Amino acid sequence: MAKELQHRRPFSWYVTFYATMAAIGGFLFGYDTAVISGAIGFIEVRFGLGAAMLGWTVSSLILGAACGAAVTGVLSDRFGRKKILIAAAALFTVGAVCSALPNTTAGLVIARIIGGIGVGMASTLSPVYIAEISPAAYRGRLVSIYQLAVVTGIFVTFFVNAFIAGFGDDPWDIEYAWRWMFAFGVVPGVLYLVLLMFIPESPRWLMKQNQEVRALDILERMNGKHAAKSELQEMLKLKETDAATLRELLAPSLRMPLFIGIVLAVLQQITGINAIMYYAPEIFEETGIGTNAALVQTIWIGVVNFVFTLLALWLIDKVGRKALLVAGGSVMAVSLFAVGYGFYTGADAGLMILLFILLYVAAFAVSFGPVVWVMLSEIFPTRVRGRATAVAAFSLWLATFMVSQFFPMLIESLGPTTTFWLFAVISVIAVIFCATIVPETKGKSLEEIERLWDKRG
Ligand code: GLC
Repeated sequence: MAKELQHRRPFSWYVTFYATMAAIGGFLFGYDTAVISGAIGFIEVRFGLGAAMLGWTVSSLILGAACGAAVTGVLSDRFGRKKILIAAAALFTVGAVCSALPNTTAGLVIARIIGGIGVGMASTLSPVYIAEISPAAYRGRLVSIYQLAVVTGIFVTFFVNAFIAGFGDDPWDIEYAWRWMFAFGVVPGVLYLVLLMFIPESPRWLMKQNQEVRALDILERMNGKHAAKSELQEMLKLKETDAATLRELLAPSLRMPLFIGIVLAVLQQITGINAIMYYAPEIFEETGIGTNAALVQTIWIGVVNFVFTLLALWLIDKVGRKALLVAGGSVMAVSLFAVGYGFYTGADAGLMILLFILLYVAAFAVSFGPVVWVMLSEIFPTRVRGRATAVAAFSLWLATFMVSQFFPMLIESLGPTTTFWLFAVISVIAVIFCATIVPETKGKSLEEIERLWDKRG
């Protein structure tokens, strides 16, 4: 407790400001998650796509993101967080422009891979950057701004899609609406690119480069003179002179955080959130309501996701990461069982299914949504943070790919009841994993977390 209090320092608007700027990377992520749902129907008609090509058009971005996440580690440990964030914003913007122009599916798939690389890089590095500039007492909240940006991106894009689709008639939609939907990505992309020019480099990365004077200067601006000194001293104690290699990730003291990071990342996805995010209208239609009602219900998902992510921001540094994961994961499991049961009983279960899907999204939004990104950004030692977070984020994107690819097939072969029960069982496993293996990192400085592994190792 004394240690925790030691890290309680006045709330810094500077850090919040820079964290919010960096978090816009999450908006790009959310935008790309949602834009395809609006565009895909028109693309399907425009290019006359069959099921396989349709699948590729959707998942090309996710595969690009996995590649982006994979390379970010080595790049950001070498060139710094800021430069690679800028590169991510540039790739995203180029991807948005190129996705709006093609007249062939191959061109569209390539453009989405380029944009995806940017999203993968930003998704890995934005949380890392925020964690590295944040004081321990507010780190959870500040990194959660990133997840808030993800859900805002999903939500805003849903409206942008609806607005653009309502603009013209059918032939216009098929030729142009989807192009405008993709082109809209230029707005957050360029905004992010410009704002990134003004953020300082991560002081922890600078320390690793032996640039103590610059690091101290940035820390002082962010957290005040007094706090900066003690933070610098703590970093100095743990400073590694030799550069970390990829092999170092397998060092005994790193095995545990890497294992936890990868498992948490994969669990965040295979408990089914993106089955809901990508396929909500289709799921709701299965309950027998019409297409329009299904789209309206989907808006509710956006609202609930946003509101409960706000709640997470408030709770994460108070009750801690682990408690949120265990409590949220349990509610997710119960809700998923209930959704499966709703489909099992069949007729007239539409409202029950909607309510439990909303409860599931709410529970995810206060737990696995933000907490996993927060933990990925904080559980690894500074000398390997870029690389280790990249390995975990790569696993996360691969898992996203698997869910988005296989969910429709699962629904077709097993039916919705068994599919949702499968997600429910995985949620139970997730709860057990979090309760028994995941450590609490609330209120600890990044350096204290690092020492935690040494002790466990
Ligand atoms: C998290 C997940 C992402 C998902 C989002 C939904 O950010 O990583 O895949 O789409 O939450 O809110």
